[in-house]
Amino acid sequence: MNASTIVIVGAGQAGALAAAELRQQGYAGRVVLIGEETHAPYERPPLSKDLLLQPQTARCAIHGEGYYAEHNIELKLGVAVTALDAQARVVVLANGESIAFDALLLATGARVRRLPMLDALGERVYTLRTLEDAQRLLPVLEPSKRVLLVGAGVIGLELASSAVDLGAQVTVIEQAPRAMARCAPPLLAGHLCNVHRARGVRLHLGSPLASAARENSELVLTLEDGTRITGDAVIYGIGVEPETTLAQAAGLRVDNGIAIDAQCRTSHMHIYAAGDAASQWDEASGRHQRRETWENANRQAQTAARAMLGVETEAWEAAWFWTDQCGLNIQFAGDMAAPEWLVRGSLEAPPCVLFGLDGEGALVGAITVNQGRDMRSAKALIGKRARIARETLADPAQNLRNLAREFA
Ligand code: APR
Repeated sequence: MNASTIVIVGAGQAGALAAAELRQQGYAGRVVLIGEETHAPYERPPLSKDLLLQPQTARCAIHGEGYYAEHNIELKLGVAVTALDAQARVVVLANGESIAFDALLLATGARVRRLPMLDALGERVYTLRTLEDAQRLLPVLEPSKRVLLVGAGVIGLELASSAVDLGAQVTVIEQAPRAMARCAPPLLAGHLCNVHRARGVRLHLGSPLASAARENSELVLTLEDGTRITGDAVIYGIGVEPETTLAQAAGLRVDNGIAIDAQCRTSHMHIYAAGDAASQWDEASGRHQRRETWENANRQAQTAARAMLGVETEAWEAAWFWTDQCGLNIQFAGDMAAPEWLVRGSLEAPPCVLFGLDGEGALVGAITVNQGRDMRSAKALIGKRARIARETLADPAQNLRNLAREFA
C-alpha cells in the first residue's frame, strides 16, 4: 500500500496510536491525522488529576514534539472533517480541502452529555473533557471555594478528590442510588463514597436535581426532596455520548457507537473505527459494546491499523481501566457486573484485591486497590475463567502469580 493514503479522523488517544501503529508496522504510504482540537494529541486521564494538582509540571502529550514530522505523519489540527463520502472514499474538511483515502479510521471520540438545566445557569458551570476544560477549572478549585459536583461517576469522584486536595469544599450530587454504577460494583463504590466522606465531601446519592438557579452571586441547586445546596461553581460529569455524526451521515451502521467487528471494521469495508466512538461486536454477550477507556482506545487503534494492512489481532484477555482518587490507585479488569465479589485483605486497610465470580464460581473480574502488581496475574486468570476455591482467592498468603502459573 505504498502509494496509498490512510486518513484518520480524530487526533485523540485512538487516532494518535493508530498513526503510530501504521508506521510501526512498516506502512510507507501517506498518513493524514486530522483533529478538531488545536493541541497535538494528548492523554485525557491526567485532566482530572495531575493537570489540576500540578499544573506547572504535568505533561499529557501522547508523543514528543518532533514525533509526527519524524514519522511523516501529516498532522492537521484545529480543523474538523465536515463530510464523508464513503462510496467515493473522500473526506471534506471545514477549510474546504478534500482528501481521498484508501482506508479511513474514524476515531472521533465522545462528547460530554449536556444537562440543559445546568447550562442555562450560564457562567460558573463547567464540564471536563478537553485540555481547555481542565485549564478553566484551575481557578475554580481553590481553597474555600464551594464546588458542587453533579454526577458521581469517574469524572465526578476524581474531581471530588482533586478539589479536596486543593482545599475546596465539595458537595457531590448523584441521581442514582449509588456512585460509579456504570463501571464499578456496589461494594467498591460504597467504600469509595465512605473514603470521600471521611475527607469532608458531602455526598447526596439517589438525589435527582429538581431545579437550578442563580441567586445573587450564588448558584443554588435544589434536589427533588427539597434540599437546597448553594455553591460558587457547578461542575457536572454525567457521562459521554459517542461522536457518530459523520458515520451516521455516511450511512454506516451505528448502534450506541459506530458498529465495528473484532478487527475494528465498520459496515463499510474500507472504513474502520476505534476508541470511545466505536461499539465493538462482543461474541460472548452477542451484542455491540462501547468501552470508554484509555486501554480500549489503544487496543482498537492498533487492531484497526493492523487490519488496514492485512494483519489480524487476537482478542485480549480482559478489559482494563483504572482510577486514581483519595490516594488510592484502583485498577479494574474483566466484568464489573459479576454477581459475587470476594475481598482478599480489607478495603479499610489497602492494599487489597477484589475478585468477581460468575454464577458458576468462575473468576470473571478483579479489582486491585493499591496493588497493581497483581493485575497481570488477575487478568490471566480471568482470561482462563479460572475456578479457584473461595478460601484460596481470599487468602493474602496465596501468591496470585503462582495461581496464574497453575492455570497457564
Ligand atoms: N444528575 C446527577 N447525576 C447524573 C445525572 C443527572 N441528571 N445523569 C447522570 N448522572 C450520573 C450517573 O448516574 C453516573 O453516576 O452521572 C454519572 C456519570 O458517570 P460516568 O458514566 O462514569 O461518566 P463521567 O463521570 O462523566 O465520565 C465520562 O470520562 O474519564 C472518563 O471513563 C470516563 O468515559 C468516562 C468519561
